[in-house]
Amino acid sequence: MVKICCIGAGYVGGPTMAVIALKCPSVEVAVVDISVPRITAWNSDQLPIYEPGLDDVVKQCRGKNLFFSTDVEKHVREADIVFVSVNTPTKTRGLGAGKAADLTYWESAARMIADVSVSDKIVVEKSTVPVKTAEAIEKILTHNNSKGIKFQILSNPEFLAEGTAIEDLFKPDRVLIGGRETPEGFAAVKALKDVYSQWVPEEKILTTNLWSAELSKLAANAFLAQRISSVNAMSALCEATGANVTEVSYAVGKDSRIGPKFLNSSVGFGGSCFQKDILNLVYICECNGLPEVAEYWKQVIKINDYQKTRFVNRIVSSMFNTVSNKKIAVLGFAFKKDTGDTRETPAIDVCKGLIGDKARISIYDPQVTEEQIQRDLTMNKFDWDHPLHLQPMSPTTVKQVSVAWDAYAATKDAHGICILTEWDEFKKLDYEKVFESMQKPAFVFDGRNVVDAEKLRKIGFIVYSIGKPL
Ligand code: NAD
Ligand code: UGA
Repeated sequence: MVKICCIGAGYVGGPTMAVIALKCPSVEVAVVDISVPRITAWNSDQLPIYEPGLDDVVKQCRGKNLFFSTDVEKHVREADIVFVSVNTPTKTRGLGAGKAADLTYWESAARMIADVSVSDKIVVEKSTVPVKTAEAIEKILTHNNSKGIKFQILSNPEFLAEGTAIEDLFKPDRVLIGGRETPEGFAAVKALKDVYSQWVPEEKILTTNLWSAELSKLAANAFLAQRISSVNAMSALCEATGANVTEVSYAVGKDSRIGPKFLNSSVGFGGSCFQKDILNLVYICECNGLPEVAEYWKQVIKINDYQKTRFVNRIVSSMFNTVSNKKIAVLGFAFKKDTGDTRETPAIDVCKGLIGDKARISIYDPQVTEEQIQRDLTMNKFDWDHPLHLQPMSPTTVKQVSVAWDAYAATKDAHGICILTEWDEFKKLDYEKVFESMQKPAFVFDGRNVVDAEKLRKIGFIVYSIGKPL
């Protein structure tokens, strides 16, 4: 029986390993983490992350061939294949601060693998890492090891998106495996390919050299984020000219060379990876003496920041240039629907902008707790991606912010509503009832283009939708 161990039981490690366990009954999978609360949650009925379909997969395999444990060393020692899926946040201090990837967690995992191993292993980079990381990891694994154990490093970046992780893992567009172009490297690639080929069609498993695999992950995220910044840049022009961004996206996406997906204008992209990975890409370009290329990708982030600022400015200017002491209902705090993840959610910047203008904010999100919201609004930029168990809870709370138990409570007596996550339930609210309970004039700022603006205008709302005429 092949034994797999995955270091890091987060948004990637947990779902990915659960699906491997489900699809490969003959493989034993252990997911390990230094976070005791996380592992406890994985072993309970309340999984640590909300992801449609995940509960079902975990229930089918947990205790059979899927195990969650804090005994990191034991499971690493016993494994044939070790995935490393720890966080690789943006560095907050020192060389490359604010751009470069912080590989502290990765390096400590690699040192531990070298220390505890007593047999040859395939070590798989699952985390998103800078191109050439495998070279550094190889040095750590081999230099720290006097026992003559052989390690083969593979790059197997993950392309799942949150909210659709299980679907994406069941039917991936591709699985990418990069390895050394040596007989041992090819053998390692084949061993990992044999795992995925249990459910992924052969033609969807791509094999490349290590550096292509590492760079393809950063490139894919950069291309995806660039599409959003492109359509968001167009949204500003639409508002200035009377064009409608939904119509423009549709017309543009009809070109089969461009395609219709990932062209929804929004208040800005969020999530734990797009910004971090592009900043990392920018840093790598700068380090390789390519300032023009770095500048090109930096623009994707700049437009995203501009979109969030533009949204806040629009709210304040529409509400007679002040939101001081006005109640603003924020509907949605997660960075997208169907997840409780708030890492780099645009809601943080929008709320901070409104708080800066002295608004009172009432937030409702079906999957985000008050504790999480307060934590996000008091945390420094980039501090969020360091394991929660290492972060003290902030002693301060933002007094201007309250958290409501539903959308009706959040919007009661509000002067304006901001929709920041595209949860389906926001499409179906009884907006007549919402209108009745609000201060007048009642404003709606739809940062996700989820409501029927014309219908709401008929009720009496003043509606501002991203990239659409008033
Ligand atoms: P996460 O923060 O949810 O999980 C990482 C886990 O690693 C944490 O639970 C942490 O406690 C644990 N950890 C850190 N150092 C450890 C160590 N030395 N030993 C044991 N456990 C350790 O992060 P994530 O969202 O799962 O992302 C992991 C990686 O995957 C990142 O590089 C990210 O860029 C990449 N990625 C994420 C997504 C996504 O949708 N979240 C998608 C594709 C790729
Ligand atoms: C993204 C990629 O889609 C995954 O392929 C990748 O594996 C992952 O990053 C990663 O490396 O972490 P994720 O961030 O989970 O996945 O979610 P997306 O669906 O990509 O959405 C990212 C952000 O862009 C969200 O805030 C979303 O609302 C926004 N978005 C997305 C738009 O504003 N418009 C769109 O058309 C699509």
